Amino acid sequence: MTYDFTRCPDRHRTGSLKWERYSGRDVLPMWVADLDFVSAPEIVAALQQRTAHGVFGYTIPPRSTVEAVLEYLQTCHGVTATAEQIVWFPGLVPALNVACRAFVQRGEEVLTCTPVYPPFLSAPQNADVGLRKVDLAEKDGVWNIDFDALENAVTSQTKLFILCNPHNPVGRVFPEATVARLAEFCRRHQLILISDEIHCDLVLDDLPHTSGLKFAGPDGPPVVAMFAPSKTFNLAGLACAFLVIPDAATRRTFQRAARGLITEINAFGYAGCEAALRHGWPWRDQLLDVLRSNRDRLETFIASSLPAIRAWHVEATYLAWLDARELHLPDPAKFFQDHGVGLSDGVPFAAPAGFLRLNFGCPRSQLEAALARMAQALNSR
Ligand SMILES: Cc1ncc(COP(=O)(O)O)c(C=O)c1O
Repeated sequence: MTYDFTRCPDRHRTGSLKWERYSGRDVLPMWVADLDFVSAPEIVAALQQRTAHGVFGYTIPPRSTVEAVLEYLQTCHGVTATAEQIVWFPGLVPALNVACRAFVQRGEEVLTCTPVYPPFLSAPQNADVGLRKVDLAEKDGVWNIDFDALENAVTSQTKLFILCNPHNPVGRVFPEATVARLAEFCRRHQLILISDEIHCDLVLDDLPHTSGLKFAGPDGPPVVAMFAPSKTFNLAGLACAFLVIPDAATRRTFQRAARGLITEINAFGYAGCEAALRHGWPWRDQLLDVLRSNRDRLETFIASSLPAIRAWHVEATYLAWLDARELHLPDPAKFFQDHGVGLSDGVPFAAPAGFLRLNFGCPRSQLEAALARMAQALNSR
């Protein structure tokens, strides 16, 4: 079956975070990580079936959904997990926040590499614990973990390392050797490894994704790996995510911190998640082709028509990280927004002023329009 990625229904007045931000203005939203595509028909059908049942009481994880997750982890990521190791959550952002409350006391701190998805930075702050940021190292166009800088930054008060792999915003898929070295670093310094792998099924290049779970166990650090169908299958509005926490004591500590604060997953979240993991892969494969083509177009366009902007090759995700510092604009995000393109400003990612993130998860026509507006904006300066 061929799916249609050439158009998206009008999302205005649907309560879309992405589109309502610019309501009433002619600004193309190329910011928050949400796809402008209709979900796989297999998922829509499962949700319709769930709706038709008509009873929406309190939920527990349906056995078939748990089985779908376990099969997915095994088949797609080579991870063997058990049902009891799965912790369902309404999202990764609440999970990051609960992790900071569960595992870090006042006066202690969290370590992460920047630039990074802003909730990695706000979660420690929300929990009133410390945060140590170490810059990713960029060399010859490739972003890597700077292990020397990590060794210098870690202290006896550091309790958590939060990894984003694949990485938002730099689009990097960290190689197995890097994940292994990070796990060894965490074990040696007695840190829990929080591994946000929400983009793991959006790898565009022919590269393997290595789950942090591969290094959990008696010889590794405690690992809290975080997954969701929300990015790959565009189901963020269904609020359904799952964590894998193999170590029982770590799992108990996490669950205790969440007790009474986190709702059950809603019935549609489970239905959408199961349908995605069981039936969504042909749609996902075609999505990857579309994203790859959009990425290639974006990279070529920037090199040829926006040469003052630097872009990094996107190995995974549908987010491009751009360095616009050479444009010497006081506020590049505002500049492009004033010219009809809504990008994410890099500053909340703990990047220096002048960086931008562009979401290319949209029909090609929308991407072309956004790129044309950006070029026109710069030409009209
Ligand atoms: C790395 C990363 N983690 C988590 C999230 C959001 O997770 P959730 O919607 O499950 O809270 C995003 C969304 O863009 C993300 O990029």
